[in-house]
Amino acid sequence: MSKWIEVVELNKIPVLGSRLIKTRDQSIAVFRGSNDQVFAIRDACPHKGGPLSQGIMHGTTVTCPLHNWKIDLTSGNALAPDEGCSNVFAVKVEDGKVFLQLPLTPHPPLPQGERGRKKKIYFSPSPLEGEGLG
Ligand code: FES
Repeated sequence: MSKWIEVVELNKIPVLGSRLIKTRDQSIAVFRGSNDQVFAIRDACPHKGGPLSQGIMHGTTVTCPLHNWKIDLTSGNALAPDEGCSNVFAVKVEDGKVFLQLPLTPHPPLPQGERGRKKKIYFSPSPLEGEGLG
């Protein structure tokens, strides 16, 4: 059974910026779009693990700060010609608060056997440890 856990207030995330949420197992970058749409993605670029939370957001894409790959925040997929995927997670906003769905399983589930270095990762329920950098 899944549940939603509050991780940050929306107004603490700069527009076209992100906040880093750290769990016991990983770091998740929560981005806020210009229309207050939010996205949650593993804070690791599919290329060489660059910190996507420090990338530049434009539309529903973030450009990795290390080598400029562009990652679609809705799917986690790198935009062509690059290939690869970072996990995205279910996230929502209610009453000005941002919630992540636990357990932290990739959402939507990644297809198996696709190109690049996609892999399906499931995380056990892990209490969030609060906000990190951002
Ligand atoms: S690590 Fe992100 S583009 Fe290379």
